[in-house]
Amino acid sequence: MGLMLLCLLLSTILGQSQALEASESELPSQELEFLTRGLLGSAKEAEFFQWMRGVRRRIHQYPELGFEEHRTSQLVRSELDSLGIEYAWPVAKTGVVASIGSGSKPVFALRADMDALPLQEQVEWEFKSKIDGKMHACGHDSHVAMLLGAAKLLQSKRDILKGTVKLIFQPGEEGYAGAYHMLQHGVLNDVDAFFFIHVTPSLRTGVIASRPGPMLAGAGLFSATIRGKGGHAAAPHKNKDSILAAASAVVALQQIVSRETNPLEARVVTVGFLKGGEAGNVIPESVKFGGTFRSLTNEGLTYLQNRIKEVIELQAAVHRCEGTVDFMEDTPLPYPVMINDEPLYEHVKKVGEALLGEPNVELCPVIMGAEDFSFYSKESAATIFVLGIKNESLKSDQPLHTSHFVIDEEALSVGAALNAAVAISYLDTHVVRTH
Ligand SMILES: *[C@@H]1O[C@H](CO)[C@@H](O)[C@H](O)[C@H]1NC(C)=O
Repeated sequence: MGLMLLCLLLSTILGQSQALEASESELPSQELEFLTRGLLGSAKEAEFFQWMRGVRRRIHQYPELGFEEHRTSQLVRSELDSLGIEYAWPVAKTGVVASIGSGSKPVFALRADMDALPLQEQVEWEFKSKIDGKMHACGHDSHVAMLLGAAKLLQSKRDILKGTVKLIFQPGEEGYAGAYHMLQHGVLNDVDAFFFIHVTPSLRTGVIASRPGPMLAGAGLFSATIRGKGGHAAAPHKNKDSILAAASAVVALQQIVSRETNPLEARVVTVGFLKGGEAGNVIPESVKFGGTFRSLTNEGLTYLQNRIKEVIELQAAVHRCEGTVDFMEDTPLPYPVMINDEPLYEHVKKVGEALLGEPNVELCPVIMGAEDFSFYSKESAATIFVLGIKNESLKSDQPLHTSHFVIDEEALSVGAALNAAVAISYLDTHVVRTH
């Protein structure tokens, strides 16, 4: 795996420099410090901060699910109009791609996701969700606000940008593969590097974290049907028991990871639902079950997918039943592994250290969660950083995707400044050579 990873990273690096014909240089640390501190200072100014916080709160009150972000998209466009920033719209239904700068290469992209979750907010505060059963419990409202904040900062510096910054306001991150759909549009074909900040309640405000290489799993879904022959429970010999076949298949699936995977590699197969039968005295005609499979390599994903199909079909056959497996590949699944491009990771780390101080940039662990930002990482260099929002006095330590999720809004200034500083300094250090 080490070798393969190295090859992967190497090919990314080589591909990158060829496509760009760029001369990479380092920005002197004093210059970087001056830039980042200036941006953070602006983003913390009362008027600026209150505007950004207001944007976040307006979005928070009217959460919209994937590909229904009409109101949020409208808000984004009207703010961009006020800032005098041009954009393409609609991109993948509700998506918006704004551009700032020279219009030429290099092109650096910043991304925010816009959708909310089907969850009832339980936090009692002035700007609580006004839509029953929907809530911004994954911080996407803050991602949009931070990106608009970055838009404002970048627009004020548009004359010094040595290239183009594209701002991606993306629909449908929560299971809709919105990133994939944005990429089909063509408006992102010229992007050299993608950057995304996601808030996290596991770090305190003012701290960011990431890691080079694989950071999040590639993830797929499967749904299986096992068909037997239904009949009276008292006459098993006259029927074909789909319940027993399904039970055997579920047990056998556990062995793909425990017996076929190198213990030093991370893979997951989880069965998350199982449905079959109505009565204790009836053998049902069929049983359905399904779940998720994950890996930190794309080869691992393919292996798991092939074996899940084999194990279910063959276990069904052992019990004289028929098994079929659907991987919903038209949705599109699986999501690729999220691999942070190493040079880009190093770039953001350096900018983050100048902005927040070295101790406030941490190395985070790999997790087997997934994020559709990984579709961008298949196209160009890409990296994710997480941004702390934990503040004890605000109790903003509740996990993502829970109805008590709270954000320390002070983090908005940090996110806006980091987005803008990473983009500006990337363009500064990736000047395109003209031959
Ligand atoms: C936590 O939030 C309170 C209230 O907004 C603020 O006064 C304080 O400075 C915050 N603490 C940190 C560490 O950010």
